Amino acid sequence: MKDNRIPFQKYTSRQEQLAAQYNWEYFSKQHKKGKLTAKERIELLFDENSFEEIDAFVKPSGNIKTNIYGDGVICGHGKINGRKVFAFAQDFTFMGGSLGSVHAAKIMKVQDMALSMGHPIIGLIDSGGARIQEGVASLAGYAGIFHRNVKASGVIPQISVILGPAAGGAVYSPALTDFIFMTRQTAYMFVTGPEIVKEVLNEEINSEDLGGADIHGSKSGVAHFVYDDEEHTLLGVRKLLQYLPSNNVDFPPVSAQEALAPNNPQKLGVIIPEEANIPYDMLDIINNITDKNSFFEISENFAGNIIIGFARLQNKVIGLVANQPKVLAGVLDINSAEKAARFVRFCDAFNIPILVLEDVPGFLPGSNQEHSGIIRHGAKLLYAFSESSVPKITVIVRKAYGGAYIVMNSKNMGGDFNFAWPTAEIAVMGPEGAVKILHRKELIQSKNTDELKAKLIADYKENIANPYIADEKGYVDEVIEPANTRKKLISAFEALENKYMEKIAKKHGNIPL
Ligand code: HXC
Repeated sequence: MKDNRIPFQKYTSRQEQLAAQYNWEYFSKQHKKGKLTAKERIELLFDENSFEEIDAFVKPSGNIKTNIYGDGVICGHGKINGRKVFAFAQDFTFMGGSLGSVHAAKIMKVQDMALSMGHPIIGLIDSGGARIQEGVASLAGYAGIFHRNVKASGVIPQISVILGPAAGGAVYSPALTDFIFMTRQTAYMFVTGPEIVKEVLNEEINSEDLGGADIHGSKSGVAHFVYDDEEHTLLGVRKLLQYLPSNNVDFPPVSAQEALAPNNPQKLGVIIPEEANIPYDMLDIINNITDKNSFFEISENFAGNIIIGFARLQNKVIGLVANQPKVLAGVLDINSAEKAARFVRFCDAFNIPILVLEDVPGFLPGSNQEHSGIIRHGAKLLYAFSESSVPKITVIVRKAYGGAYIVMNSKNMGGDFNFAWPTAEIAVMGPEGAVKILHRKELIQSKNTDELKAKLIADYKENIANPYIADEKGYVDEVIEPANTRKKLISAFEALENKYMEKIAKKHGNIPL
């Protein structure tokens, strides 16, 4: 009921004016471009009626005259899956969602609040970038946002959702956050747009091909999640949050639903093919170990030779890193090492135990990889596993050769438990390569090279490339039956619940970048 007493009149008229802002024109401007409005996005993202807006009535800085409130960004907090989350949503209908000094100050305010109160923050990005009319003040605004992104890194989860343009230096706030979502057709990210590309390089390319969702989801690896439309994108964000703690001293939520064991753990015993060079799908192993339908893959179209994602094991969240023999035989290369390293560091920062499923023939050879820096990029994964202090378990299901064996969370790199299946081949290199090096002369002199080679390979597998030597020396804690893997892992992670690691005091390490 409307209160007509004098103190309430101004309050009411301002509220009415704000509500009137969201008129037919406001909605149709965005809908015509195939996009939702900032208001609709907030409603889809948050639990019903839970969003509380702050700074709704601010106006842009001095020389921009307008009756419209908000300066092109909605900021506030609400609940997602019942847990508190902060957010800002840029409003493209007001000056192209461009970032002026007041717009920036609003974002910085929610960044500061989210950090000091220990809640995740989500940015819904749809903006023409720095507001041209405000010049350096808008650039300074971006600088303040980037600075806060870095301050909050590793303390609260930060998520960016790109739902329109993100151009120029503006792409660097999302790049500093933990996860980037993009929507096909309407979202794009680039440092320099198609016009500049044409001008400088005489290269014709459109926005979608230069920096659209699929390009960033598959080629550059910038986007971790790509969806067809905004509704699914925002549902994806809600889903991701189900796996994340609110901050670095919190723990990931434990599902209240009864954990459903996977369909067919017996299948684990027959997934690995007889022949070592025949591929199979690592997802089959993941899905038959973790709680039913709990695996949520990240960056699924980028560097497919390694799989990363969250899952639950008996209701508790774990981070998964697994080689994928179906893609490039599961080798480690620059992209896969970086993809996994960043994920391991996220899990470590946010108290998420890590499970590694290993089947890796080694690092990808060749001048392309060497000249592009596989040495320093591969070192990132070594560094990430080694510095992490969360519970970490590796199960070697097939190949674990050479440096790649070491990298994938081996015992001496700080792995807490290493298990191996009877099909594991743990060795300095694969049988073919080893036999060539160790028996070159015999093979050259032999009248029946193929027969001798086959025998030597069989001997190598029997005597060297098997899990029992590592088991006898303690480099593997136990050789386990594949069908028992889930049970063994639940028990081992339970043992690790009280894990504590003293760290040497230092400013920070120097991860190879
Ligand atoms: C002020 C802007 C703006 C900007 C768009 N608008 N970008 N106003 N500053 N940066 C305004 C337009 O003038 C227009 O106003 C309204 O927003 C909608 O824009 P349109 O161009 O009509 O929309 P569309 O055709 O969809 O094109 C969107 C766009 C284009 C591709 C984003 O607007 C564009 O190229 N904008 C400039 C992008 C840019 O170069 N930004 C600077 C990047 S550098 P009216 O009044 O007509 O509705 C940067 C530095 C950051 O951001 C540094 C951080 C370190």
